[in-house]
Amino acid sequence: MKIIGTGSAVPSLTVTNDDLATFLDTNDAWITTRTGIQARHLLSSEDLYDLAVDAANKAISASGLRPDQIDFLLVSNVANRHITPGLSCIVQKRIGLSCAGLDINVACAGFVNALMLADSMIKAGHAKNILILCAEEPTKYCNWNERDCSVLFGDGAGAVVLTEGGAFKDVKLTMISDRDVLYYERGMETTPFEQHYVKGQPLVMKGKELFKTAVTESAKDIQNVLDYNHLTSDDIDWFLLHQANKRIIEGIRHIIGGPEEKYPTVIEKYGNTSSASIPIMLDEMLRANKIKAGDKIIMSAFGAGFVSAACLWEWEV
Ligand code: ACO
Repeated sequence: MKIIGTGSAVPSLTVTNDDLATFLDTNDAWITTRTGIQARHLLSSEDLYDLAVDAANKAISASGLRPDQIDFLLVSNVANRHITPGLSCIVQKRIGLSCAGLDINVACAGFVNALMLADSMIKAGHAKNILILCAEEPTKYCNWNERDCSVLFGDGAGAVVLTEGGAFKDVKLTMISDRDVLYYERGMETTPFEQHYVKGQPLVMKGKELFKTAVTESAKDIQNVLDYNHLTSDDIDWFLLHQANKRIIEGIRHIIGGPEEKYPTVIEKYGNTSSASIPIMLDEMLRANKIKAGDKIIMSAFGAGFVSAACLWEWEV
């Protein structure tokens, strides 16, 4: 398959580190040096569904296809205010689609996992043109009275339209069952028979542990994909990595190799937008004409699970 259109959307409200320091015990110097984040966009007047529709419409418009030519909608979302129906059902009509769809939750690795599914569906003949939409509001799972998680995240949506082609070369998915390193537990209704009632609680994160696992496992996935395809980091033009922490990206770069310029970032502006981070960055790079035909690209992401993933492209236009 190949990508023929991309789109992204972030909320209108920009919140800087200094803004956060007005109500949290934090400061711009700490956040910038420890994470690379300078600002993020937070949902205020719009909701996640508005962002999702906006990103999807932009991607379809860039693809040159009509909405009725999209024959499957794959949505990556960790959580939104609806447990059911899925986000794909909620936005399908507003995007002007009538095709079927499904939702996946593979945390921040959702985009690369969705790419694997789209590739399999296209190869199996189940669909010709697929819209992947990653729409995330991680700021809604954080405890905003604490500084540990709330400073890290931003809201956003990124979308791509895929069709038949030979650009997507390989993918590697990894899952290590370890809930405790990062989780957000939602309270559910209770029954008269319930013996394990959980009230629910905001995001819990073991930051240092997660940092180390993210660097090690992402680097392993990337190296696996490189080795399997008889490539070295010198052959790769771009490493588009999940934007969770600039120091994590640096850690992976030190293992894999290559100059800083090959590891672009948008974390400065948007913080960690979960599974939307890679498609948002890809959209910005394509619109700035930074990616050209023939470029070899690695995409790699990690997240709660612990899950991680990497894939290889040789760009086609
Ligand atoms: N502002 C100011 N000080 C802070 C803040 C803050 N927001 N948060 C922590 N501190 C303090 C700590 O209390 C500690 O103080 P102490 O030395 O007096 O005890 C000090 O800063 C150092 O804290 P550490 O936790 O050691 O800082 P670290 O360098 O590990 O950075 C961070 C913390 C940024 C969370 C890092 O561990 C990290 O990025 N981990 C991975 C996070 C991540 O990737 N999350 C999402 C992954 S999956 C997904 O994308 C959904």
